[in-house]
Amino acid sequence: MKAAAKSATASAPSTSANLGSGFDVFGLALDAFADRVTVTRTGRRGVTVAADGGVPADARRNTAGIVALEAVRRYVKRGGLGVRVSKGVPVGFGLGSSAASAAAAAVAIDRLLGLGLSPSGLVELAGVGERASTSSVHYDNVAASVLGGFVIVRTGPLDIVKMPPPADMECSVAIPEVAVPAKKTAASRKLVPDKVGLKNATANVGNAAAMAAGFARRDTALIGSAMADSIAEPARRRTIPGLESVRGRAIRAGALGVAISGAGPSVIAVGNANTDMDAVGRAMKRGFASVGVRSRVVRCRPTPRGAARL
Ligand code: HSE
Repeated sequence: MKAAAKSATASAPSTSANLGSGFDVFGLALDAFADRVTVTRTGRRGVTVAADGGVPADARRNTAGIVALEAVRRYVKRGGLGVRVSKGVPVGFGLGSSAASAAAAAVAIDRLLGLGLSPSGLVELAGVGERASTSSVHYDNVAASVLGGFVIVRTGPLDIVKMPPPADMECSVAIPEVAVPAKKTAASRKLVPDKVGLKNATANVGNAAAMAAGFARRDTALIGSAMADSIAEPARRRTIPGLESVRGRAIRAGALGVAISGAGPSVIAVGNANTDMDAVGRAMKRGFASVGVRSRVVRCRPTPRGAARL
């Protein structure tokens, strides 16, 4: 008889949520960074967490730990789980850090316990961690991190459409060296208006529809042109010094579209095979420098690969 596995390790990619026009709806997995989570069975009820990268080791405050606590509650009759989190995704910069830990934890737990969860079951489990860490329900980052590719998330009931990214799509992500407030995502979400005017809603519906068509047609130029956002970005603009300079310079350097990555403060630019992405990256860096902010730029690609056991 095969002995039950004692531990399982999974890795999950960084992600960029919203892509401008799809607040809480669009997510894109990026090969820029990844988190790695190892889950082990333990004899003691509950969950212990060991984590690097400055994230909390209290299971109730760590997204991977929260996922494990939920898994113990749902699926483990005796004993508990030990979770080791190795951070690769920068924490708090709008690149899906908490989601990557939650996604890797969900996949590792699924394998360790032999749960056989469906893709949407894995997203739902990972979403428990994301929900607790950001105090709100949005599955855009976790869905992209679990499944890879470009995702369209609908909630109530949870339903995810996954599409592969165009082969020629490239990204530059500018990560400013700014202090990120605690609970940044929660604070940044409070800025987004509850009510939206018809003109802005119509503009976003048009862009979001064009974005979906862009992925369906594998048309990176259409995707880039559909990244304009009339709802969340105007409200969040003031939290990212130099945003308009970064955007304007990136577009003049040839970027096909630019948006705040998730809740920021990173900014993502998109290009295709005809775009000089190094020039775009330099332009973004100059945009931040123009307001006295240092930044680093990461060139990356969308990845069709989501969280996977190692
Ligand atoms: N859609 C989310 C937001 C992503 O913009 O607040 C951040 O977690």
